Amino acid sequence: MSKVTVVGAGNVGATCANVLVTQRIADEVVLIDIKEGLSEGKAMDIMQTANILNTNTRLIGVTNDYAMTEGSDVVVITSGIPRKPGMTREELIGVNAGIVKSVTDSILKHSPNAIIVCVSNPMDTMTYLIHKTSGLPKNRIIGMGGALDSARFKYFLSLALGAPATEVEGIVIGGHGDTTMIPLVRYAAHRGIPATELLPKEQLEKVAADTMVGGATLTKLLGTSAWIAPGAAAAQVCAAVLHDEKKMIPCSALLEGEYGEKDLCIGVPCILGKNGIEKVVEFNLNDEEKELFRKSAEAVRKTNAALA
Ligand code: NAI
Ligand code: 2OP
Repeated sequence: MSKVTVVGAGNVGATCANVLVTQRIADEVVLIDIKEGLSEGKAMDIMQTANILNTNTRLIGVTNDYAMTEGSDVVVITSGIPRKPGMTREELIGVNAGIVKSVTDSILKHSPNAIIVCVSNPMDTMTYLIHKTSGLPKNRIIGMGGALDSARFKYFLSLALGAPATEVEGIVIGGHGDTTMIPLVRYAAHRGIPATELLPKEQLEKVAADTMVGGATLTKLLGTSAWIAPGAAAAQVCAAVLHDEKKMIPCSALLEGEYGEKDLCIGVPCILGKNGIEKVVEFNLNDEEKELFRKSAEAVRKTNAALA
């Protein structure tokens, strides 16, 4: 019996729960929020697709009742405020830090062995906050950002290549911020063929630039931050853990010397399995990429300083 709790039944949380149910990723899902009736309503709406979409996953919605989250294997934290047009993810820190800290405390009282997937923004800093305050081992705290940013990178790559998104490879590392993420153009590929051999430099630069402002573009179009791909990306991380997939997914992980950094959480390729982050994969960055990663880490560290 696998059990996932999703905290926050807003746009991202409800979408994550929907994917967990419709893709039959977990046996049981609990959706929890502080807004009276919201989780219950979203859960009921999602469960009314069960017969249509042929799923036996059970989803229940609860208001603030953490006893119902007892024994969760994975907990996804999406509670907090999202960005509005013109706002950066970093501007959310004051409000979201308080929410993320109190939610983590409540969750761990009932699911002391859970693996935590942090989605709330500014995500790298919220992930670091959980590390600093929970006392959990580093493998059990996963920041979801690179999974989404890499999916966006592959989307823009697929458009530029005129190829199905399922045929392209791309990875984004660094912070989950408009100026801090690093789409690794050098490693982008179409069925193993380097994208650098298939597209002109300018076009690849545009793909990378579109990826970096991918979240901001959607926030402008939608009036609030995106939720469909973010919810699906969080569910993808849950699946990798619950099914012990050993998939390599870029996530925000606590670094202890990898890539020359320590005492911060930032996006790096991670092997995800039943123990959470089972390995941070290190590979050689060229000088330009190293410098971008150093600057990204510096920016994330600056945001972390606002926690003090
Ligand atoms: P939303 O406003 O639709 O939902 C947030 C929900 O959290 C609300 O329903 C609210 O009632 C709930 N909430 C607030 N305090 C709570 C508490 N103490 N306990 C339980 N629930 C609580 O926002 P949305 O769009 O779902 O975004 C959620 C967060 O995820 C934001 O911080 C957003 O910036 C972030 N985000 C992160 C992404 C990533 O890749 N890491 C991608 C997209 C969004
Ligand atoms: C996103 O990338 C704002 O983190 C949110 O859509």
